[in-house]
Amino acid sequence: MGNKKVTINDIKQAKKDNRKLVMVTAYDYPFGLMADEAGVDIVLVGDSLGMVVMGLDGTVEVTMEHMIHHIKAVVRGCKSPLIVGDMPFMSYNTSIREAIVNAGRLMKEGGCDVVKLEGGVDFAPTIEAIVKAGIPVQGHIGLTPQTASALGGFKMQGKDAKAAKRIVDDAKALEDAGVFSMILEAVPAPLGKIIAETVSVPVIGIGAGNNVDGQVLVTHDMIGLFDKFVPKFVKQYTKIRPTIINAMKEYKDDVTNQTFPAKEHSFSMSEETVTELKNMIGYSKS
Ligand code: KIV
Repeated sequence: MGNKKVTINDIKQAKKDNRKLVMVTAYDYPFGLMADEAGVDIVLVGDSLGMVVMGLDGTVEVTMEHMIHHIKAVVRGCKSPLIVGDMPFMSYNTSIREAIVNAGRLMKEGGCDVVKLEGGVDFAPTIEAIVKAGIPVQGHIGLTPQTASALGGFKMQGKDAKAAKRIVDDAKALEDAGVFSMILEAVPAPLGKIIAETVSVPVIGIGAGNNVDGQVLVTHDMIGLFDKFVPKFVKQYTKIRPTIINAMKEYKDDVTNQTFPAKEHSFSMSEETVTELKNMIGYSKS
């Protein structure tokens, strides 16, 4: 979007203008800088960091402290995109008061612009209360990774008409609760289209087909930095992992063979100073 700071109004306007929204994840300063330079609309500091940065099996163990730490790093590098801080599991599930306090912490201590939380109809009152407290909320429905075990694993959601209707109901409840946009994850493409046409706020898909209002991908999946498993809905735009491994292997060879550091990577000292130093310390080796 350029250098101007993206606001939630810009995000809502994009749907009215039929302009597709571009969203990626970032977890640290260099990736925040790169997302900014790439000109994306929204950067999500997602709790997916539990998997792609911390090596956990899921997102359940991610804490508020982890999120605040990573949001702060991204915020330092990312100036233009809207920055979404993900609310970790159990930071908004136990009470509305705790949800508001924790949403506030992500903004005050982390510095993100808005928060995201997972859940549909059941979480509408929580979302409404957070929005009323002055904190913009992005919803997240369909496959909700924090509760993947309750959903039977990381599986496509809304397979039959009854299950699909429940997700439409979730989307409507989020809209009524006041979200400025919502993530729709891992649902059949026709359901993605129906939901995007049913609600007035932007529906940003991840595995929800091409007829939604924008797309989000986990950057580490998209660039092939994390390839423990690659979900069906991910397109890998590059495979950066072998490039990094090869660079490390070359470095290893150079160090072993003493071809690194070369003269251009070393600091010099005049012959006179070397001699003076050697005399000072009584150094006699040639
Ligand atoms: O945590 C995350 O990265 C997410 C995306 C999958 C949307 O929630």
